[in-house]
Amino acid sequence: MTRNRQVRLAARPVGLPDASTWNYVDADVPEPADGQVTVKVAYVSLDPAMRGWLNDVRSYVPPVQIDAVMRAHAVGHVSASNSPDFAVGDAVSGNFGATEYAVADAKDVVRVDESIAPLPTWLGALGFPGFTAYFGLLDVGKLKDGDTVVVSGAAGAVGSLVGQIAKQHGCTVIGIAGGAEKCAWLTDELGFDVAIDYKSESVAKALRQHAPKGIDVYFDNVGGEILDAALARLRLGARVVLCGAISGYNATEPTPGPQNYLSLLINRASMAGFIVFDFAGRYGEAAAKLGEWVADGKLVAREQVATGGIDKFGDTLLMLFEGKNTGKLVLQVS
Ligand SMILES: NC(=O)c1ccc[n+]([C@@H]2O[C@H](COP(=O)([O-])OP(=O)(O)OC[C@H]3O[C@@H](n4cnc5c(N)ncnc54)[C@H](OP(=O)(O)O)[C@@H]3O)[C@@H](O)[C@H]2O)c1
Repeated sequence: MTRNRQVRLAARPVGLPDASTWNYVDADVPEPADGQVTVKVAYVSLDPAMRGWLNDVRSYVPPVQIDAVMRAHAVGHVSASNSPDFAVGDAVSGNFGATEYAVADAKDVVRVDESIAPLPTWLGALGFPGFTAYFGLLDVGKLKDGDTVVVSGAAGAVGSLVGQIAKQHGCTVIGIAGGAEKCAWLTDELGFDVAIDYKSESVAKALRQHAPKGIDVYFDNVGGEILDAALARLRLGARVVLCGAISGYNATEPTPGPQNYLSLLINRASMAGFIVFDFAGRYGEAAAKLGEWVADGKLVAREQVATGGIDKFGDTLLMLFEGKNTGKLVLQVS
């Protein structure tokens, strides 16, 4: 009988998740009920937000329950169908979880086209990171042609797309990332104007040098000291997009708030948070545009594919917090 290995939440972590956080269990392959499909998962998405989903607190989604299969976006192929909308072999994406096989209602399953891009890209530039960059920058950030845009977490899934979308709008783009290799990728291959290596230089000083007139849009993926450095350089009417704050996701003590927040007042600037799900009614628009840019070579979609199967889920998640990924991190499951 085919095995269905799954990652279940064993215990809520304090600080970084470790081996005690997860149980790896073998379950049966689920049969689809009426209106459902069974999906053989090929790649699971690793997302910084997963760390937040492990905390037993009120948030934009309920916490993952102890012993439940870990929530995860994934892509794969339909292995059994009880829905007229999908046939065996169809390539699909959905919230299938960290598991080798998943059953899902057909209405929650999205068809993807492997002739446009390989499966991992549907978890990156053509999936939620793409939608997050697109709506976060254009709608929440109210991007204007020619703006000076600064993005942190710049060599990651969302950040690398934010910078490239801004470049297409004639903006000056400054990326902040960890390490010389990531910074070289941003400037040499993605066309960023400047990359600041926050691990080896002062972000505050580099922003003074490279954004002498100030920042119009700061797209924040990391929070903490980098957010403070960006706040200090805002221009009149600037928009700060609060997308994420990964520097504090594993904190065991309350993290300090930004010291430089009065810069928002002085510069009549705004700081707005958002969740990509807010734009669910417009995913089609983003998918069409992102797909066009990827096809035209205007958007470099890079994924880092971790191997070793579902048993490597816990180790692979940690790579995000250690800065070991460039572009979108996914785990190959089958
Ligand atoms: N609001 C939404 O709807 C939404 C949707 C998707 C993602 N997000 C958020 O967007 C952000 C980026 O997500 P992603 O999926 O694109 O992940 P990602 O950027 O591909 O991966 C995380 C990166 O964060 C950086 N990082 C880790 N610890 C850090 C620290 N202490 N200080 C500064 N940087 C650190 C690392 O890069 P370096 O090597 O450069 O340090 C790492 O590669 C996250 O905060 C995530 O929660 C929000």
